[in-house]
Formats: sequence, structure tokens, C-alpha cells
Amino acid sequence: MDYKQKVTAALVQALDGQLTAEEVQAKLERPKTSDKGDLAFPTFTLAKLLHQAPQQIAQNLADKLDTTDFEKVEVVGPYLNFFFDKAGYSADTLKTVLTAGADYGQNQDGNNGNVPIDMSSPNIAKPMSMGHLRSTVIGNSIANILTKNGYHPIKDNHLGDWGTQFGKLITAYKLWGNEADVKKDPINKLVEYYVRFHKEDVDKPELDDIAREWFRKLEAGDPEAHKLWEWFREVSLQEFNDVYKELGVKFDTYNGEAFYNDKLAEVVQLLKDKHLLVESEGAQVVDLSKYDLNPALILKSDGASLYITRDIATALYRDRTYSPVKNLYVVGSEQTYYFKQLKAVLEEMGVKSAPNLQHVPFGLITVDGKKLSTRSGRIILLAKVLEESVKLAQEEIAEKNPTLANKDEVAKQVGVGAIVFGDLKNERTNNIDFVLADQLKFEGETGPYVQYAHARAESILRKAAHVDVTADANQLTDPLAWDTIKALADFPQIVKMACDELEPSVIAKYAIRLAKTFNKYYAHAKILTDDAELSARLALVKAVSTVLKEALRLLGVQAPDEM
Ligand code: ARG
Repeated sequence: MDYKQKVTAALVQALDGQLTAEEVQAKLERPKTSDKGDLAFPTFTLAKLLHQAPQQIAQNLADKLDTTDFEKVEVVGPYLNFFFDKAGYSADTLKTVLTAGADYGQNQDGNNGNVPIDMSSPNIAKPMSMGHLRSTVIGNSIANILTKNGYHPIKDNHLGDWGTQFGKLITAYKLWGNEADVKKDPINKLVEYYVRFHKEDVDKPELDDIAREWFRKLEAGDPEAHKLWEWFREVSLQEFNDVYKELGVKFDTYNGEAFYNDKLAEVVQLLKDKHLLVESEGAQVVDLSKYDLNPALILKSDGASLYITRDIATALYRDRTYSPVKNLYVVGSEQTYYFKQLKAVLEEMGVKSAPNLQHVPFGLITVDGKKLSTRSGRIILLAKVLEESVKLAQEEIAEKNPTLANKDEVAKQVGVGAIVFGDLKNERTNNIDFVLADQLKFEGETGPYVQYAHARAESILRKAAHVDVTADANQLTDPLAWDTIKALADFPQIVKMACDELEPSVIAKYAIRLAKTFNKYYAHAKILTDDAELSARLALVKAVSTVLKEALRLLGVQAPDEM
């Protein structure tokens, strides 16, 4: 039983059940420093209920309390301060961490239930934006967190590889494009054609008719249109894969919008069977007034399908293939309304997993104050941001640790890790302005700071002759060691909280806290001094290294042993 539960149980008993365990737990506070106890119970809010002064309540409770589980319990004004049995607690915590290793914090809450995660999902023939980066790294981290909680995530890259824009692109390519240019620099070239199309069609509206005709041909399976589309898709995917490789993100499937083309007729039929389709100005829509939402447009008047039509087919497919216990869409908050409509349509259709559909939104990202937009041509390429970050990391390492072996590999881990961590440490719904140089600092709340704490721990362990993972932690008397132990003991709760909230920032903030606590300890304890506590200190360092590395792994960030 962990300490929070021990404290709760003792209080519930002393209160004669006047508060439930949950009510007690909600009131518990963590004192700022350990000399004021390890958990505190404030009594002000009980004054009304018990018709007594808070100080009196605290004193009465202390008199009644069963304190056998604790080192001591102190009354300070209206507070009851609990001090844990440090020796026992430290020994338990270190033993648990060191025997579990990377599995520490693993739980089976998810019962291996399937959780498709719609993530990344960039659009073919367009550069991957910072928004897609957010979706990729948030989705990837949520997948890791779900696995840690016993779920079975399926990372699904729902590529935007269908839609009328491909009619425009084919038109533009046939007018101004050539194969060799595209091969040299695929996405940039394709964007150039696309931008030119939008410039020229202002004066030449006939271009739009040609584009519509090409998309119609594409939908009808015309060989030339299909071949071009397939080629655009392939070269785009190659570029996307370079970014995924750099980020270390893998997908379980790349079924994009086009994959669902042949599944749309069934969707329309199902909607008809349920009498959900109504005609509106020639188009087919589903009325959602009962949900207080605008109608969902399913088929245009010319019979063309839409984004939502393909998403309904996708959800149906995932429902049948996976029977999802959760069905997640990691997509920017600008699509919040859209996902409400999608969920409502699926509920109307009676799709079994519809109630499990959850949009996991995130805020806008700007880089060094600049917004991204494909149309205007003012694009900050994601690949460029990563490249730049790795370059800065290289310079930093050249300055700080010029003799480091495998410098380039480490620079990559640090540079890419800085971007990923810099994103994930923010609550995902916040908008962020990304100042590249800030993310790379070895100080402050950055990825490199956490990586550096880990590397520091590893460097101590390399210097030590031998690390005894069964070392007796009873001997760790240092108060800063105690703070570090408590931070380690929090990890399993943190893993659960991150999963409940689908919030990687919970892990990132924890990693910063553990790194800070450890750095304080490290700065003042002489860890390698050969005395009776040496093996206990080394065991603590090993445990810190293990948990920092695991926390970073959950975020999708690497932890080099040296940097
Ligand atoms: N391709 C879309 C975009 O870039 C995101 C797709 C999100 N996933 C979905 N199932 N609708 O905006």
C-alpha cells in the first residue's frame, strides 16, 4: 500500500468516517520541503462540518490517529504533517525500481484493449507542417503511455491523399510540370505547381473546370490520373518518412483517405437505411439539430464525397477491425467542431464504438513568431527546423564536450529531443510559440536538461566499480536523497495520470522535477566517496537514471549515456 493510502486510511479512521477516502485524498497536500513532512492534511475546510476551530480539529485528530505506519505526525496550526518511515520507504522504493528496471510504473489497467490513434496525417503533395509535427509527437507519446498502462495502441497515419485538390495538382503538373524537377525536390515542386494554379486561376477560371474534370477522372479510376496521383503520393511519403525516421516514430498503418474510397457506397447505403440522409439544395446531409450542431454534408450535389464521408467510413472500418475501447484522433483544435459532427453522425448510425470516439485536440504552433501557411508560400519546413536544431546541438557539444565519441549521433538525439520535448512539455491544448534557441538550452525546462541529468547519472555509474542493485537504502540519511526517493515513488501515479488525461506534458513535467531534484542532490552529496552509504547512493543514482530514461522514452525522446 502506498503512503497516500496509508495516510488516507489513518485519517478516515480518526475522523470516524465523517469523510470518505476520496474526500480525504483530495485534501492532502505535498509540503514544499521535506522538513515540514511528506504529506499534509489541512483542516480549515472541516471547521464548518465539525463546529470546531481548525487547530482544535488538527489536535483532536492527532490524538486519535494510529501512527504506527509513520515516523511521526506533527500538528502545526491547522495542519497535520505526516512524516513517512524513511528507511522502510526508501528501501521499498529502490527495490521496486531496480528490480522492475524499464518496466517500473507498468500497469495493466487497459486490459490489452485496442486503441486506434489517428495521428500525424499530413496531406500528400504538401509539406508536413508544425501542426502535423505536433500530431506526430503527441500521438506517438500517447501511444507509449497507453502501452505503459496496458492498452494496445494502433498508430494510424490517416494520410490526406484524396480530394479535389488532386484535380488541381494534376492540371498544374500537366501544364507546367516535368518529371525530372519533381524527382529532384518532390514536395517543393508540387507545392510550386499548386501555388501557381491558385495564382493563375484568378484570371483563368476555366482552369477550375479542367481540374474538376481531372478529379472526376481520378475518382473513376482513369489510368493516367491514377498513375500521377500514385506517384505524387509515393514521393511525398518518402519525404514524410525521412521526418518520421528522424523523430523515431513508426506507424502501424498508413491507410489514408483514399483507402476508404471503395467503402463510401456502403456508408451512404447505411445512412439511407436508417433514414438519416435528407436532401438540401441538391446535396445529401445528415440533420444534427438534436445535437445542436449544423448538418453534416455527406454528398455534394454532383455526388462527390467529402472529408467527413471518408471519416465515417474510416470509423466504421476501425470499429469492425479493432472493436476499440477508445478511438482517438490527435488533430488540431481547429477541427473540434468537425469531430463533434463526426461523432454525432456515428452515434446516429448506431456504430458501437461511437461513444468511445475522442478528439484529442492541440493548440497552434508558431516558430520564432511566424505562422505556417502552404498557400502563401510562406512555409517553414519542418525538416528545416529539425536540421537547424541538430546543428545547434552540434555547436553546443563542440563547445561543452569536444572529445565526446559519436558526436553526430548524440547531436541528433539532443537536437531532435529538444524539439520533441519542447513541444510535449506544454499542455497540449495551449498555443505555443517555439523559439528554437530556448529549447536547446541545457538549463531550464528543456529536453537537453533532462537528458543531461540522465547522462550525468550514467557517468557516475561508469566511474563506480560496481553497482549493487540490492543495496540497503536504509542508510540514505540525506534529506535531498529523500526528496529524490519520493520523486521516484511518484512515477507509477504519474503514468496513470498521463493516461487518464491523454497528456504527455504530465510526463514531461515529472521528468523535469525528477531531474531537478536529482541535480540538487548531486550538487551537494559526494556520491562516489567510499563510505558505508556508497552502495545505497549508487543504487539511488541507478534508479534515477532508469526512471529518467523511461520517462523520456514515453515522450519519444532518446537518452544518450554521454553528452
Ligand atoms: N489531413 C488532415 C489535415 O491535415 C488531418 C486528418 C485528421 N484525421 C482525420 N481522421 N480526419 O488537416
